[in-house]
Amino acid sequence: MNNGFIKIEQSPPLKGQVELIGAKNAVLVIITSLLLTNGKSKLKNVPCSVDVLHMIKLLSQLGAEIVFDKERHILEVDTTGVNKWEVPSAIMKKMRASVLVMGPLLARFGRAHIALPGGCVLGSRPIDYHVKNFAKMGVTIQMDGDFLFAKTTKLISQRLVFEYPSVGATENILMAAVLARGTTKIINVALEPEVLDLIAVLQKMGAKITIQPPASLEIEGVEDLFPIEHEIIMDRLETGSLLLATAVTGGTINVPQAPAYSLDVLLLKLEEMEHTIEIGPEGSGITLNATQSPRAVSFKTGPYPNFPTDLQAPMMVLQSLASGTSVIEETVFENRLLHVHELQKMGAQIKVEHNKAIVTGVEKLYGANVTATDIRASCALVLAGLVADGTTIMSGIQHWRRGYDALEQKLASLGARIQLFDSEELPVDVAEAKHREKHLNV
Ligand code: UD1
Repeated sequence: MNNGFIKIEQSPPLKGQVELIGAKNAVLVIITSLLLTNGKSKLKNVPCSVDVLHMIKLLSQLGAEIVFDKERHILEVDTTGVNKWEVPSAIMKKMRASVLVMGPLLARFGRAHIALPGGCVLGSRPIDYHVKNFAKMGVTIQMDGDFLFAKTTKLISQRLVFEYPSVGATENILMAAVLARGTTKIINVALEPEVLDLIAVLQKMGAKITIQPPASLEIEGVEDLFPIEHEIIMDRLETGSLLLATAVTGGTINVPQAPAYSLDVLLLKLEEMEHTIEIGPEGSGITLNATQSPRAVSFKTGPYPNFPTDLQAPMMVLQSLASGTSVIEETVFENRLLHVHELQKMGAQIKVEHNKAIVTGVEKLYGANVTATDIRASCALVLAGLVADGTTIMSGIQHWRRGYDALEQKLASLGARIQLFDSEELPVDVAEAKHREKHLNV
Protein backbone atom coordinates (compact mmCIF):
# COMPACT_ATOMS: atom_id res chain seq x y z
CA MET A 1 0.00 0.00 0.00
CA ASN A 2 1.57 3.30 -1.10
CA ASN A 3 -1.05 5.74 0.15
CA GLY A 4 -0.84 7.68 3.33
CA PHE A 5 1.75 9.63 5.20
CA ILE A 6 3.06 10.34 8.66
CA LYS A 7 2.81 13.83 10.07
CA ILE A 8 5.41 14.72 12.66
CA GLU A 9 5.58 17.98 14.55
CA GLN A 10 8.41 19.33 16.62
CA SER A 11 8.03 17.49 19.91
CA PRO A 12 9.10 17.96 23.52
CA PRO A 13 11.93 15.75 24.87
CA LEU A 14 10.61 12.19 24.87
CA LYS A 15 10.07 10.83 28.34
CA GLY A 16 8.85 7.59 29.85
CA GLN A 17 8.95 3.82 29.67
CA VAL A 18 8.01 1.54 26.79
CA GLU A 19 7.52 -2.12 26.05
CA LEU A 20 9.12 -3.83 23.11
CA ILE A 21 7.89 -6.43 20.66
CA GLY A 22 9.58 -9.40 18.97
CA ALA A 23 12.24 -8.93 16.31
CA LYS A 24 10.85 -8.71 12.77
CA ASN A 25 14.06 -10.11 11.29
CA ALA A 26 13.90 -13.12 13.62
CA VAL A 27 10.23 -13.91 13.19
CA LEU A 28 10.29 -13.73 9.37
CA VAL A 29 12.88 -16.47 9.05
CA ILE A 30 11.45 -18.49 11.94
CA ILE A 31 8.05 -18.59 10.20
CA THR A 32 9.73 -20.04 7.08
CA SER A 33 11.58 -22.60 9.23
CA LEU A 34 8.21 -24.07 10.29
CA LEU A 35 8.00 -25.49 6.75
CA LEU A 36 10.63 -28.00 7.91
CA THR A 37 8.09 -29.58 10.26
CA ASN A 38 4.80 -31.33 9.86
CA GLY A 39 2.27 -30.15 12.44
CA LYS A 40 1.22 -27.24 14.60
CA SER A 41 3.71 -24.75 16.06
CA LYS A 42 3.14 -21.71 18.22
CA LEU A 43 5.16 -18.49 18.16
CA LYS A 44 4.79 -15.83 20.84
CA ASN A 45 5.79 -12.15 20.85
CA VAL A 46 5.14 -11.86 17.11
CA PRO A 47 5.06 -8.26 15.81
CA CYS A 48 2.15 -7.29 13.60
CA SER A 49 4.21 -5.52 10.94
CA VAL A 50 3.28 -5.73 7.27
CA ASP A 51 6.28 -7.94 6.36
CA VAL A 52 5.10 -10.46 8.95
CA LEU A 53 1.58 -10.36 7.44
CA HIS A 54 3.12 -10.97 4.00
CA MET A 55 5.06 -13.95 5.30
CA ILE A 56 1.89 -15.36 6.87
CA LYS A 57 0.12 -14.99 3.50
CA LEU A 58 3.03 -16.66 1.72
CA LEU A 59 2.90 -19.70 4.00
CA SER A 60 -0.87 -19.98 3.74
CA GLN A 61 -0.56 -19.94 -0.06
CA LEU A 62 1.74 -22.96 0.31
CA GLY A 63 -1.02 -24.75 2.23
CA ALA A 64 -0.32 -23.90 5.89
CA GLU A 65 -3.23 -23.16 8.23
CA ILE A 66 -2.52 -20.06 10.24
CA VAL A 67 -4.20 -18.22 13.09
CA PHE A 68 -2.70 -14.89 14.16
CA ASP A 69 -3.95 -13.36 17.39
CA LYS A 70 -2.72 -9.82 16.76
CA GLU A 71 -3.75 -8.56 20.19
CA ARG A 72 -1.83 -11.22 22.06
CA HIS A 73 0.90 -11.47 19.41
CA ILE A 74 0.52 -15.23 19.14
CA LEU A 75 0.90 -17.00 15.83
CA GLU A 76 -0.19 -20.62 15.36
CA VAL A 77 0.98 -22.30 12.19
CA ASP A 78 -0.10 -25.77 11.14
CA THR A 79 2.11 -27.01 8.31
CA THR A 80 0.40 -30.41 7.93
CA GLY A 81 -1.36 -29.37 4.72
CA VAL A 82 1.65 -27.75 3.02
CA ASN A 83 1.76 -29.32 -0.43
CA LYS A 84 3.14 -26.62 -2.74
CA TRP A 85 6.62 -25.37 -3.46
CA GLU A 86 5.77 -22.51 -5.79
CA VAL A 87 5.76 -18.96 -4.48
CA PRO A 88 3.77 -16.54 -6.68
CA SER A 89 5.67 -13.44 -7.74
CA ALA A 90 3.08 -11.00 -6.31
CA ILE A 91 3.96 -12.00 -2.75
CA MET A 92 7.64 -12.71 -3.43
CA LYS A 93 8.25 -9.22 -4.76
CA LYS A 94 6.87 -7.56 -1.65
CA MET A 95 9.84 -8.48 0.52
CA ARG A 96 13.28 -9.87 0.11
CA ALA A 97 12.93 -12.19 3.10
CA SER A 98 10.61 -14.38 1.03
CA VAL A 99 13.74 -15.96 -0.53
CA LEU A 100 14.15 -17.67 2.86
CA VAL A 101 11.49 -20.25 1.96
CA MET A 102 13.96 -21.77 -0.48
CA GLY A 103 16.03 -23.72 2.09
CA PRO A 104 13.03 -25.23 3.91
CA LEU A 105 11.18 -26.10 0.66
CA LEU A 106 14.26 -27.81 -0.77
CA ALA A 107 14.75 -29.73 2.47
CA ARG A 108 11.10 -30.82 2.63
CA PHE A 109 10.18 -31.33 -1.04
CA GLY A 110 13.45 -31.20 -2.97
CA ARG A 111 11.90 -28.36 -5.00
CA ALA A 112 11.38 -24.62 -4.83
CA HIS A 113 10.01 -22.37 -7.54
CA ILE A 114 10.31 -18.75 -6.59
CA ALA A 115 10.17 -15.35 -8.21
CA LEU A 116 13.23 -13.20 -7.52
CA PRO A 117 12.74 -11.25 -4.30
CA GLY A 118 11.84 -7.61 -3.77
CA GLY A 119 12.11 -5.50 -0.62
CA CYS A 120 13.87 -2.27 0.25
CA VAL A 121 15.83 -0.36 -2.40
CA LEU A 122 19.33 -1.05 -1.12
CA GLY A 123 21.59 -1.49 -4.12
CA SER A 124 21.34 -4.54 -6.31
CA ARG A 125 21.06 -6.98 -3.36
CA PRO A 126 21.93 -10.20 -5.22
CA ILE A 127 21.20 -13.71 -3.91
CA ASP A 128 24.31 -15.27 -5.42
CA TYR A 129 25.63 -16.62 -2.07
CA HIS A 130 22.36 -18.52 -1.60
CA VAL A 131 22.34 -19.87 -5.16
CA LYS A 132 26.05 -20.88 -5.28
CA ASN A 133 25.88 -22.76 -2.00
CA PHE A 134 22.62 -24.55 -2.80
CA ALA A 135 24.32 -25.68 -6.03
CA LYS A 136 27.23 -27.06 -3.97
CA MET A 137 24.67 -29.02 -1.93
CA GLY A 138 23.42 -30.74 -5.06
CA VAL A 139 20.61 -28.40 -6.08
CA THR A 140 20.07 -27.73 -9.79
CA ILE A 141 19.06 -24.16 -10.35
CA GLN A 142 17.57 -22.68 -13.50
CA MET A 143 16.70 -19.04 -14.00
CA ASP A 144 13.95 -18.08 -16.40
CA GLY A 145 13.34 -14.34 -16.51
CA ASP A 146 12.30 -13.33 -13.03
CA PHE A 147 11.83 -16.94 -11.91
CA LEU A 148 14.15 -19.37 -10.25
CA PHE A 149 13.53 -23.13 -10.40
CA ALA A 150 15.48 -25.18 -7.86
CA LYS A 151 15.44 -28.96 -7.70
CA THR A 152 17.33 -31.73 -5.93
CA THR A 153 16.90 -35.44 -5.46
CA LYS A 154 19.10 -35.42 -2.37
CA LEU A 155 20.76 -32.60 -0.45
CA ILE A 156 24.46 -33.33 -0.07
CA SER A 157 26.24 -32.27 3.11
CA GLN A 158 29.37 -30.22 2.41
CA ARG A 159 32.04 -27.95 3.79
CA LEU A 160 30.85 -24.55 2.56
CA VAL A 161 32.70 -21.24 2.74
CA PHE A 162 30.92 -17.87 2.57
CA GLU A 163 32.97 -14.98 1.21
CA TYR A 164 30.87 -12.63 3.38
CA PRO A 165 28.76 -13.39 6.48
CA SER A 166 25.37 -12.80 4.82
CA VAL A 167 22.46 -13.07 7.24
CA GLY A 168 20.00 -14.42 4.67
CA ALA A 169 22.43 -16.89 3.08
CA THR A 170 23.43 -18.24 6.52
CA GLU A 171 19.76 -18.78 7.41
CA ASN A 172 18.76 -20.30 4.08
CA ILE A 173 21.65 -22.76 3.79
CA LEU A 174 21.35 -23.70 7.47
CA MET A 175 17.65 -24.54 7.03
CA ALA A 176 18.50 -26.84 4.12
CA ALA A 177 21.43 -28.46 5.95
CA VAL A 178 19.44 -29.52 9.02
CA LEU A 179 17.68 -32.21 6.97
CA ALA A 180 20.63 -33.11 4.68
CA ARG A 181 22.22 -36.47 5.41
CA GLY A 182 25.73 -36.22 6.95
CA THR A 183 27.66 -33.26 8.35
CA THR A 184 27.56 -29.80 6.82
CA LYS A 185 30.05 -27.17 7.91
CA ILE A 186 29.50 -23.52 7.00
CA ILE A 187 32.48 -21.20 7.44
CA ASN A 188 32.18 -17.41 7.92
CA VAL A 189 28.53 -17.32 8.87
CA ALA A 190 26.48 -14.39 10.19
CA LEU A 191 25.85 -14.70 13.93
CA GLU A 192 23.34 -11.88 14.37
CA PRO A 193 21.01 -12.34 17.40
CA GLU A 194 18.21 -13.11 14.91
CA VAL A 195 20.28 -15.96 13.41
CA LEU A 196 20.88 -17.28 16.94
CA ASP A 197 17.12 -17.19 17.58
CA LEU A 198 16.59 -19.25 14.42
CA ILE A 199 19.24 -21.72 15.63
CA ALA A 200 17.42 -21.99 18.98
CA VAL A 201 14.18 -22.78 17.12
CA LEU A 202 15.81 -25.38 14.88
CA GLN A 203 17.40 -27.02 17.94
CA LYS A 204 13.98 -27.18 19.62
CA MET A 205 12.71 -28.92 16.47
CA GLY A 206 15.43 -31.55 16.95
CA ALA A 207 18.18 -30.20 14.66
CA LYS A 208 21.80 -30.83 15.62
CA ILE A 209 23.72 -27.58 15.24
CA THR A 210 26.89 -26.39 16.94
CA ILE A 211 28.44 -22.95 16.68
CA GLN A 212 32.21 -23.08 16.37
CA PRO A 213 34.67 -20.20 16.76
CA PRO A 214 35.28 -17.85 15.17
CA ALA A 215 32.13 -17.98 12.98
CA SER A 216 31.23 -21.45 11.73
CA LEU A 217 28.26 -23.74 12.02
CA GLU A 218 28.45 -27.52 12.11
CA ILE A 219 25.20 -29.28 11.31
CA GLU A 220 24.56 -32.98 11.70
CA GLY A 221 21.59 -33.79 9.45
CA VAL A 222 18.57 -35.51 11.04
CA GLU A 223 15.69 -37.48 9.48
CA ASP A 224 12.79 -35.44 10.87
CA LEU A 225 12.07 -32.20 12.66
CA PHE A 226 9.11 -31.54 14.96
CA PRO A 227 6.72 -28.64 15.71
CA ILE A 228 7.76 -26.21 18.44
CA GLU A 229 6.62 -23.46 20.74
CA HIS A 230 8.88 -20.42 20.91
CA GLU A 231 8.96 -16.83 22.14
CA ILE A 232 10.66 -14.49 19.66
CA ILE A 233 13.57 -12.38 21.00
CA MET A 234 12.95 -8.67 21.55
CA ASP A 235 13.68 -6.41 18.61
CA ARG A 236 17.09 -4.78 19.07
CA LEU A 237 16.35 -2.49 16.11
CA GLU A 238 13.09 -1.25 17.62
CA THR A 239 15.06 -0.72 20.86
CA GLY A 240 17.73 1.24 19.01
CA SER A 241 15.11 3.36 17.25
CA LEU A 242 13.44 4.28 20.56
CA LEU A 243 16.78 5.13 22.19
CA LEU A 244 17.83 7.27 19.25
CA ALA A 245 14.45 9.06 19.16
CA THR A 246 14.83 9.89 22.84
CA ALA A 247 18.46 10.97 22.47
CA VAL A 248 17.73 13.29 19.54
CA THR A 249 14.96 15.07 21.47
CA GLY A 250 17.11 15.37 24.61
CA GLY A 251 14.80 13.15 26.70
CA THR A 252 14.88 10.21 29.10
CA ILE A 253 13.69 6.68 28.43
CA ASN A 254 13.56 3.40 30.26
CA VAL A 255 13.20 0.23 28.20
CA PRO A 256 13.05 -2.60 30.77
CA GLN A 257 13.05 -5.42 28.18
CA ALA A 258 15.87 -3.98 26.06
CA PRO A 259 18.48 -6.55 24.95
CA ALA A 260 21.44 -4.32 25.88
CA TYR A 261 24.13 -6.87 25.05
CA SER A 262 22.85 -6.98 21.44
CA LEU A 263 23.50 -3.26 21.02
CA ASP A 264 26.99 -2.86 22.45
CA VAL A 265 28.52 -0.69 19.72
CA LEU A 266 25.45 1.57 19.46
CA LEU A 267 25.52 2.09 23.25
CA LEU A 268 29.27 2.78 23.14
CA LYS A 269 28.74 5.44 20.48
CA LEU A 270 25.84 7.02 22.40
CA GLU A 271 28.10 7.26 25.45
CA GLU A 272 30.83 8.84 23.34
CA MET A 273 28.22 11.44 22.36
CA GLU A 274 27.91 12.10 26.15
CA HIS A 275 24.50 10.50 26.59
CA THR A 276 24.17 8.56 29.84
CA ILE A 277 23.32 4.88 29.55
CA GLU A 278 22.46 2.51 32.37
CA ILE A 279 22.18 -1.20 31.71
CA GLY A 280 20.06 -3.50 33.89
CA PRO A 281 21.26 -6.75 35.49
CA GLU A 282 22.59 -9.31 33.01
CA GLY A 283 22.18 -6.90 30.15
CA SER A 284 18.41 -6.74 30.33
CA GLY A 285 16.97 -3.22 30.27
CA ILE A 286 18.38 0.16 29.26
CA THR A 287 17.84 3.65 30.64
CA LEU A 288 19.04 6.56 28.54
CA ASN A 289 19.39 10.11 29.82
CA ALA A 290 20.20 12.37 26.90
CA THR A 291 22.77 15.14 27.11
CA GLN A 292 21.62 18.58 25.97
CA SER A 293 24.95 19.18 24.18
CA PRO A 294 25.81 16.04 22.20
CA ARG A 295 29.21 15.60 20.54
CA ALA A 296 29.42 14.22 16.99
CA VAL A 297 30.93 10.73 16.66
CA SER A 298 32.09 8.76 13.63
CA PHE A 299 31.10 5.14 13.07
CA LYS A 300 31.16 2.37 10.53
CA THR A 301 28.49 -0.28 9.93
CA GLY A 302 29.36 -3.97 9.70
CA PRO A 303 28.14 -7.51 10.43
CA TYR A 304 27.19 -8.21 14.06
CA PRO A 305 28.55 -7.29 16.60
CA ASN A 306 29.60 -4.16 14.67
CA PHE A 307 27.34 -1.13 14.38
CA PRO A 308 24.12 -2.39 12.71
CA THR A 309 23.46 -1.06 9.23
CA ASP A 310 19.77 -0.94 10.18
CA LEU A 311 20.51 1.83 12.71
CA GLN A 312 22.84 3.84 10.47
CA ALA A 313 20.10 6.14 9.11
CA PRO A 314 18.52 7.10 12.45
CA MET A 315 22.00 7.54 14.03
CA MET A 316 22.84 9.96 11.19
CA VAL A 317 20.03 12.24 12.37
CA LEU A 318 21.72 12.53 15.77
CA GLN A 319 25.01 13.47 14.10
CA SER A 320 23.21 16.14 12.04
CA LEU A 321 22.45 18.02 15.25
CA ALA A 322 25.60 17.23 17.27
CA SER A 323 28.54 19.53 17.71
CA GLY A 324 31.37 18.73 15.31
CA THR A 325 31.80 16.51 12.28
CA SER A 326 30.98 12.84 11.92
CA VAL A 327 32.13 10.41 9.24
CA ILE A 328 29.66 7.57 8.71
CA GLU A 329 30.82 4.64 6.64
CA GLU A 330 28.24 2.19 5.29
CA THR A 331 30.00 -1.09 4.51
CA VAL A 332 27.08 -3.55 4.40
CA PHE A 333 24.85 -2.23 1.60
CA GLU A 334 26.05 -0.33 -1.44
CA ASN A 335 23.10 2.02 -1.71
CA ARG A 336 22.01 2.74 1.82
CA LEU A 337 22.48 6.50 1.94
CA LEU A 338 19.28 7.46 0.12
CA HIS A 339 17.94 9.19 3.24
CA VAL A 340 20.75 11.77 2.96
CA HIS A 341 18.94 13.68 0.25
CA GLU A 342 15.78 13.86 2.35
CA LEU A 343 17.71 14.98 5.45
CA GLN A 344 19.38 17.68 3.33
CA LYS A 345 15.91 18.95 2.46
CA MET A 346 15.39 19.42 6.19
CA GLY A 347 18.56 21.47 6.51
CA ALA A 348 21.13 18.80 7.41
CA GLN A 349 24.70 19.43 6.22
CA ILE A 350 25.80 16.12 4.71
CA LYS A 351 28.27 15.36 1.95
CA VAL A 352 28.37 11.90 0.38
CA GLU A 353 31.64 10.42 -0.88
CA HIS A 354 31.17 6.87 -2.20
CA ASN A 355 29.88 4.89 0.80
CA LYS A 356 30.68 7.60 3.33
CA ALA A 357 28.52 10.43 4.64
CA ILE A 358 30.35 13.38 6.16
CA VAL A 359 27.96 15.11 8.51
CA THR A 360 28.55 18.56 9.96
CA GLY A 361 26.30 19.32 12.89
CA VAL A 362 23.82 22.20 12.48
CA GLU A 363 21.79 24.17 15.04
CA LYS A 364 18.40 23.27 13.58
CA LEU A 365 16.50 21.10 11.14
CA TYR A 366 13.34 22.31 9.42
CA GLY A 367 10.10 20.45 8.73
CA ALA A 368 9.67 19.43 5.09
CA ASN A 369 7.87 17.03 2.78
CA VAL A 370 10.08 13.95 2.62
CA THR A 371 9.86 10.43 1.22
CA ALA A 372 11.07 7.22 2.84
CA THR A 373 12.89 4.82 0.51
CA ASP A 374 13.40 1.92 2.90
CA ILE A 375 12.36 0.79 6.37
CA ARG A 376 15.24 2.34 8.27
CA ALA A 377 15.19 5.57 6.23
CA SER A 378 11.56 5.96 7.33
CA CYS A 379 12.73 5.76 10.94
CA ALA A 380 15.43 8.38 10.34
CA LEU A 381 12.97 10.82 8.79
CA VAL A 382 10.52 10.40 11.66
CA LEU A 383 13.32 11.14 14.15
CA ALA A 384 14.36 14.21 12.17
CA GLY A 385 10.73 15.34 12.17
CA LEU A 386 10.58 15.14 15.97
CA VAL A 387 13.25 17.83 16.33
CA ALA A 388 12.73 19.85 13.15
CA ASP A 389 11.12 23.27 13.41
CA GLY A 390 7.49 23.04 12.25
CA THR A 391 5.82 20.11 10.52
CA THR A 392 7.29 17.20 8.58
CA ILE A 393 5.19 15.11 6.23
CA MET A 394 6.71 11.76 5.36
CA SER A 395 5.34 9.72 2.46
CA GLY A 396 6.49 6.20 1.60
CA ILE A 397 4.92 4.95 4.83
CA GLN A 398 4.58 1.44 3.44
CA HIS A 399 8.23 1.06 4.48
CA TRP A 400 7.45 2.17 8.05
CA ARG A 401 4.59 -0.29 8.19
CA ARG A 402 6.71 -3.11 6.78
CA GLY A 403 9.25 -2.82 9.57
CA TYR A 404 7.50 -1.65 12.71
CA ASP A 405 4.50 -2.69 14.75
CA ALA A 406 2.83 0.58 15.80
CA LEU A 407 6.12 2.28 16.67
CA GLU A 408 4.35 5.61 16.10
CA GLN A 409 2.07 4.79 19.04
CA LYS A 410 5.03 3.99 21.27
CA LEU A 411 6.68 7.28 20.31
CA ALA A 412 3.42 9.14 20.93
CA SER A 413 3.18 7.56 24.39
CA LEU A 414 6.57 9.15 25.16
CA GLY A 415 5.31 12.57 24.07
CA ALA A 416 6.08 12.57 20.33
CA ARG A 417 3.68 14.59 18.19
CA ILE A 418 3.22 12.05 15.46
CA GLN A 419 0.19 10.87 13.52
CA LEU A 420 -0.19 8.28 10.82
CA PHE A 421 -2.71 9.06 8.07
CA ASP A 422 -4.02 6.28 5.90
CA SER A 423 -5.27 8.32 2.96
CA GLU A 424 -3.42 10.65 0.67
CA GLU A 425 -5.42 13.59 1.93
CA LEU A 426 -2.88 16.07 3.26
CA PRO A 427 -3.54 18.00 6.45
CA VAL A 428 -3.87 21.75 6.13
CA ASP A 429 -0.46 22.65 7.49
CA VAL A 430 1.28 20.68 4.74
CA ALA A 431 1.29 23.96 2.82
CA GLU A 432 3.47 25.40 5.56
CA ALA A 433 5.95 22.53 5.25
CA LYS A 434 6.02 22.99 1.48
CA HIS A 435 6.72 26.66 1.96
CA ARG A 436 9.68 25.88 4.22
CA GLU A 437 11.08 23.45 1.68
CA LYS A 438 11.01 26.22 -0.93
CA HIS A 439 12.52 28.65 1.53
CA LEU A 440 15.45 26.28 2.14
CA ASN A 441 16.01 26.22 -1.61
CA VAL A 442 16.55 22.45 -1.91
C1 UD1 B 1 19.24 -8.99 6.68
C2 UD1 B 1 18.17 -8.17 7.37
C3 UD1 B 1 18.37 -6.69 7.10
C4 UD1 B 1 19.78 -6.27 7.49
C5 UD1 B 1 20.82 -7.17 6.83
C6 UD1 B 1 22.24 -6.90 7.33
C7 UD1 B 1 16.28 -9.69 7.38
C8 UD1 B 1 14.92 -9.98 6.89
N1 UD1 B 1 16.88 -8.60 6.87
O1 UD1 B 1 19.10 -8.77 5.27
O2 UD1 B 1 17.42 -5.95 7.88
O3 UD1 B 1 20.00 -4.94 7.07
O4 UD1 B 1 20.53 -8.56 7.14
O5 UD1 B 1 22.32 -7.01 8.69
O6 UD1 B 1 16.81 -10.38 8.24
N2 UD1 B 1 24.83 -10.21 -0.49
C9 UD1 B 1 25.33 -10.65 -1.70
N3 UD1 B 1 24.90 -11.85 -2.16
C10 UD1 B 1 24.01 -12.62 -1.48
C11 UD1 B 1 23.51 -12.16 -0.25
C12 UD1 B 1 23.94 -10.94 0.23
O7 UD1 B 1 26.14 -9.98 -2.33
O8 UD1 B 1 23.67 -13.71 -1.96
C13 UD1 B 1 25.27 -8.90 0.02
C14 UD1 B 1 24.10 -7.89 0.11
O9 UD1 B 1 23.87 -7.27 -1.14
C15 UD1 B 1 24.61 -6.94 1.16
C16 UD1 B 1 25.39 -7.88 2.11
O10 UD1 B 1 25.68 -9.05 1.37
O11 UD1 B 1 25.49 -6.01 0.59
C17 UD1 B 1 24.62 -8.25 3.37
O12 UD1 B 1 23.40 -8.82 3.04
P1 UD1 B 1 22.68 -9.90 3.97
O13 UD1 B 1 23.46 -10.04 5.25
O14 UD1 B 1 22.41 -11.11 3.18
O15 UD1 B 1 21.32 -9.15 4.31
P2 UD1 B 1 19.85 -9.74 4.24
O16 UD1 B 1 19.82 -11.13 4.76
O17 UD1 B 1 19.26 -9.44 2.91
